[in-house]
Amino acid sequence: MHRILVAPSILAADFSRLADELRRVEEAGADWIHCDIMDGHFVDNISFGSGIVATVRKLTNLPLDVHLMIEHADHYVPRFIDAGANSLTVHVEPESKHDVAKTLQQIRDSGCRVGLTLNPGTPFALVEPFLTQLDLLLIMTVHPGFGGQPFRAEQTEKMRRSRDWKAKNNPALDIEVDGGINPETARVSIENGANVLVAGTSIFKSEDYAAAIRALRGG
Ligand code: DX5
Ligand code: ZN
Repeated sequence: MHRILVAPSILAADFSRLADELRRVEEAGADWIHCDIMDGHFVDNISFGSGIVATVRKLTNLPLDVHLMIEHADHYVPRFIDAGANSLTVHVEPESKHDVAKTLQQIRDSGCRVGLTLNPGTPFALVEPFLTQLDLLLIMTVHPGFGGQPFRAEQTEKMRRSRDWKAKNNPALDIEVDGGINPETARVSIENGANVLVAGTSIFKSEDYAAAIRALRGG
């Protein structure tokens, strides 16, 4: 089994003290920094863009795990590569308005790790044709757009299907979960095959980031 990786989502960080927040999660044992990019079209919220990612790049040495919840991701991929992303994850839904196979190849050609994700309401069958192209499969455990929502337990079925595919085809595939991850839902996700945990609220709204990250890994 992989070591469990923890990727704090800075969506829940205090942006007035971003440098301090990044230093604190790095010292607390975070593995990656998760950056949630929202365009107000694909999801009903606007977060931040490649300029902020470039700023984050200067403030931490951790890998930047960039989750694009945007339309026409192919148009913006080069900007996030230039900003310093280490992995780029795009959505499979037709509403994200891009040719998924081509965008995944574009990310691969740029030398960045390749990720694909699906919303809770999207059937697993939609990602299956692309699994061989991926380094990372992100399973959304909330409908994307906002932090602080409850974990959707029925998404564990997709984790088990991913785990089975990974065991047969690519043991190096990262299975990441995102949304409502706290110590209890982290345990459920790990039991069902996840090895990367994205967490916003349960880390950044806690008093002790190191304790929060340890609790996500199972204590
Ligand atoms: C949801 C985002 C998540 C979110 C997670 O739209 O993709 O990364 O920030 O936040 P919490 O951990 O608060 O559910
Ligand atoms: Zn995310």
